[in-house]
Formats: sequence, C-alpha cells, structure tokens
Amino acid sequence: MDSKEIRKKFLDFYKKRGHTVIPSASLIPENDSSLLFVNSGMFPLVPYLLGKKHPEGKRLTNSQKCFRSDDIEEVGDMRHTTFFEMLGNWSLGDYFKKDQLNWIFQFFTEELMLDPKRIYVSVHRGNKEKGIKKDTESAEIWKKLFQKKGLEAKDVDFSEKKGMQGGRIFYYDDKKNWWSRAGVPEDMPVGEPGGPDSEVFYDLGEDLKRHENSPWKNKPCHINCDCGRFIEIGNSVFMEFLKTKSGFKKLSQKNVDFGGGLERLAMVCQGETNVFLGDLFLPIIKKIEEISSFKYEEKARSFEIIADHIKAAVFIIGDEKGVSPSNKGQGYFVRRLIRRAVRHGKQLDMFSLSWTKEVAEKVIEVYRDVYPEIEGNSEFVYKTLEKEELAFQKTVEKGLKEFAKLKEKKVIDGERAAFLYQTYGFPIELTEELAKEKGQKVDKKGFYREMEKHKNLSRELSAGVFKSGLADKKNKTVNLHTATHLLLSSLKKVLGESVSQKGSNINTERLRFDFSCEKKPTEKEIKKVEDMVNETIKKGLSVKKEEMTIEDALKSGAVASFKEKYPKNVSVYSIIDEDGSVFSKEVCSGPHVKNTAELGRFSIIKEESSSAGVRRIKAVLKEKDKN
Ligand code: SER
Repeated sequence: MDSKEIRKKFLDFYKKRGHTVIPSASLIPENDSSLLFVNSGMFPLVPYLLGKKHPEGKRLTNSQKCFRSDDIEEVGDMRHTTFFEMLGNWSLGDYFKKDQLNWIFQFFTEELMLDPKRIYVSVHRGNKEKGIKKDTESAEIWKKLFQKKGLEAKDVDFSEKKGMQGGRIFYYDDKKNWWSRAGVPEDMPVGEPGGPDSEVFYDLGEDLKRHENSPWKNKPCHINCDCGRFIEIGNSVFMEFLKTKSGFKKLSQKNVDFGGGLERLAMVCQGETNVFLGDLFLPIIKKIEEISSFKYEEKARSFEIIADHIKAAVFIIGDEKGVSPSNKGQGYFVRRLIRRAVRHGKQLDMFSLSWTKEVAEKVIEVYRDVYPEIEGNSEFVYKTLEKEELAFQKTVEKGLKEFAKLKEKKVIDGERAAFLYQTYGFPIELTEELAKEKGQKVDKKGFYREMEKHKNLSRELSAGVFKSGLADKKNKTVNLHTATHLLLSSLKKVLGESVSQKGSNINTERLRFDFSCEKKPTEKEIKKVEDMVNETIKKGLSVKKEEMTIEDALKSGAVASFKEKYPKNVSVYSIIDEDGSVFSKEVCSGPHVKNTAELGRFSIIKEESSSAGVRRIKAVLKEKDKN
C-alpha cells in the first residue's frame, strides 16, 4: 500500500464518519509566534480547540505538513524526521474517547490491515497534584477492542522499570502521555490547551534485536524505550485542559486531536522497519546513491540527514510563505538544514556542485500531486538552495581542515567557534556536531560572548539569537531599545495579546519594529499606543533585570518569541507599573536604561504594512519635554 493510498484511505474513512477534509496550513505559523514552525496538525486549529466555532463544523480531518526543529539531532536513527506529514482527525467538542479509540483501531486493523497482535498502546498514568485522573477509561476501551480481536489485553504500570510484564496497555506519565504544543504541563504558557493522550505503537519485531544493540540494553525494553523495536504510529489527544496561572482548568469543550505520521504508517504498511525505506523517502535515498559513490547501507546516517534536511528545506522554502536562508528565525533553520546537508554530502563524496537541486527535484517529484505549492515555487526553491549550497561549498572544505587542527582540544573555545562561524560560515550547531563526533565539547557561552564583541555579527546575533536587534550599544540605541519594549507592551494592550514581535532593528536614529497584526491599526489606535508609551515614560518606572533559566523565564510569563534559540540562561527585563502590575516583561540580552524617565518623548513617525499579516512601525525619541 503506497502512501497516496494510505492518505486517501484515512481521509475517506473520516469523511464517512462525518468529518470535513480541510487543507494543510502553511508551515509558517500565522500570527502565532509561540513556535517558529507548525509542528503538529493541531497547531492551526488552536482557536477552535479553545472554543471558537470552526466554519467547517465540529469534525475535521486532514493531512498537515509539519516541521519539528527539536528533532534535528534525532535524524539518523531510522525513524525520526524533521519534516513529516501528519494525518489528523479532530472532534471540536463532539465525540470523545470511545469513538476516537474505536475508529482509530478499526482504521489501523481493518483499513491498513495491521496485525492487532503487533499493536500496543499507552495511556496516561494520572497526576493527583494536577487533578488529572489515571486514564483507566481509555484502558477499558482498549481492552474491549483487543478482546474483539481475540486478544486478552492486560494493562500494566511502571514498564519503564519492570518491563512489559505481559501487558498490552501501558501507563506513562506526562513526559510520554501528555500533549501540548509546548510539551509537558510545566512548559505550557498560560492560555495554552493540552491534555493526556493515548498512543498506538507497532511492534517491528523482537527479532530485530535493536534493544540488544542499544544504549538501553541493560534496562528492560518497553514500548516507549528508545531502542526502536516499537514505533509510535498514532496519538489520540484528549484535549480538555487549559493552562492557567495556578494550574489547570477544564476547557469549555472536550476535544479530540489525533495525529499519525504518514511516513511511519507507510513504513509499516510496506513491511519496512526503517522510515527511510518507505515510499516517501526511498526515491530520495536512491537519488543520493546516484550522486554519491556510496551505498545507503555504508553511510546510513549521512544519507538520512541529507534526505531529511533537503526535503525539509524544499518544503520551507517552497511554502506558501516561503522562507529563505538567513541568520535569524525560520531562515536560520533553513540555513542550518542546507549547510548540515552539504557537510554530510562531503562525507559521501558528493563534490558536484548544485547536487542539492538534484535531490530537491526528486523531493518535488514525490510530493507534487499532494503539495502543488512546492512545484509552483520550484524555481525559487532551486535558486535558493543553489545559492546557499555554493556559498557554503566555497568555505566548508577549508573550515573542516581548520576544525581538524583542533583535534587535541577537549573543549573548542568560544573564539575558535566564532572564527569558524565568521570565516567559514559554520553555524554553532554544526561545530557542536563535529565536536561531538570527536568526543569534544564546545564553549557555547564563550561563542556568544565572542560574537557580541564583533559589531556586525552582533547585529545578526542579537537580531537572531537574542532577538533584540541592537546595532550597537550607544546611549541612543539603548534608549530606543527600552522604548521598543514599551512599544510591544502597549501594542499588546491596545490591539490585543495576539500581537507579537516579528522583527526589531535599531540604529542611533530610530527604532523599527515589525509585529503581527491581522488588520491595519487605525490612526486612533496608533495614537493610543504612542500616548501609552509616553505615559509610561513620564511615570519614571524602574527597569529591573533578573537572570534565570529560559524555562523559568517562560513560566514567569516573560515574552520570548524565539524561545528555541535562547541560551539556557537568560536575562529578563521587567518594567513594573505604579500599581504593581507588570507593564512589560521580556527575555532579552539588553542592555536597557535604568529608568523609563531617561527616554525623552516617544514619537511614532510611520506605520505601514511590512508583509502579509505583519505591520511595521518606525519611531524616534525626542528631547525630553521641558514641562
Ligand atoms: N497533536 C498530537 C501530536 O502531534 C496529535 O495530533 O502528536
């Protein structure tokens, strides 16, 4: 059964059960800066899970493009990919656990014809403190479903410690059986929906002996063990909770969010035990074999990294909201993907230039029917890939030689890492990977410190990694930087909390600030924002700086739109209003003034459209009012 058939069967199956098929949304989140990329099918549906009425009704299904930047490092283990397609179905306050589990089991066993004996499931263990009950309800539903197939399904607990114990239904805690876009409950910002889930695993076979050869061989194997014998093929989330300041409350409706990775389903339906041998990857792997002088089996990891990364780059560049390589935000990931692929291309003796284009052509061929946008944008995709590849090809060889000279070092210091970046274009993550392969470490903090010293690069870095967009640290720019924080808070207060920073650039003359906003703000609203900033300046509020981990910063409600890219420890700048309420709180590398009274008079000189859904404000600070 090929992937096209699986995709169609899934959508038809849910259509028959009253679901409307909706299209895949763009990979680049719309007015939502909580993550850089759409990482799940639910992402574009968040407002509807929270209760907004969906125009297509309460039952939806689709196949959604997803990109998980968190999984970049995992690629190369035969089952993780950064880009993937997620088959999804949703109940927006309609059916719940019973129908969901019945249908998905039916789909797997009667449509895809998967052997029920190879299916294992997990459910949430519960957490008294958070008021989350042990999900015995789902366990009971599963028992009955397996029973109908003639299987006695035992539910057992603590398989992490005690092993399988002859069970088929397993309890796990939040780390494994809780879903939200931000991860476990502790990492969820206030206002984010989430819930316990029930995952379906497929047993690839004990005879694979993956466990025996894994780093976990001395621990018992269980369905969530990372040895790779069991692979997750679907996840039903029972999304009924909302994160609040003090914990959780029930959402106004009980939702279901199901997602299953198409690449993995194709793999199991095609009798493979490696995602890269399924039909959504195999043609790409074969293409790489043609270009390189190696066979896949000889250098599987490099093959997988190239196949995955070029595919992901094609989808991000060729997206409806195409993104090009750059030093910040989404563009930085595109850069990392391409440069890492080029470096692995070296491992495979892929010396010919523009090979990324050849691989991209194959990617487009595999997907053109389903995602016509990548074919429509193919020229842009090829040109963009080619440019980035050629630029990096010029320096990568020398950079690798330079790196090889550091082989005696246990730790690559910040200065060297910065040199590799500035001179050879090695993203810090690439240097880290090279170091890891040789058992070395990299002083990442030192790298950032070093970068700060260089004016030009600090502009990129602060715009990208620390997101403050500072050109230099002269007094004027510091003042404008603090004014930028006041501006963002005021925009949020006047136009709504959904306003988020899209870009910031400051020079000695003015600040330039891009922010997400659906509608053009009225003149009145802009005036209100300007007045609010000036009032705050007049009050003479102090600007407080604290150091904390990025996790704590986010938990405390600090604004940090680029959270994936911050170092572990960050500074948080807060401006507290006279009544004790927080006027502004942002994760930021600074620097800032000590008191808002230092700023002078704030004046918005221009408000205009920057790109779709993004507005741009230019503003200046004038001499202080005398009165
Ligand atoms: N949101 C869940 C996941 O991504 C199910 O769709 O796993």
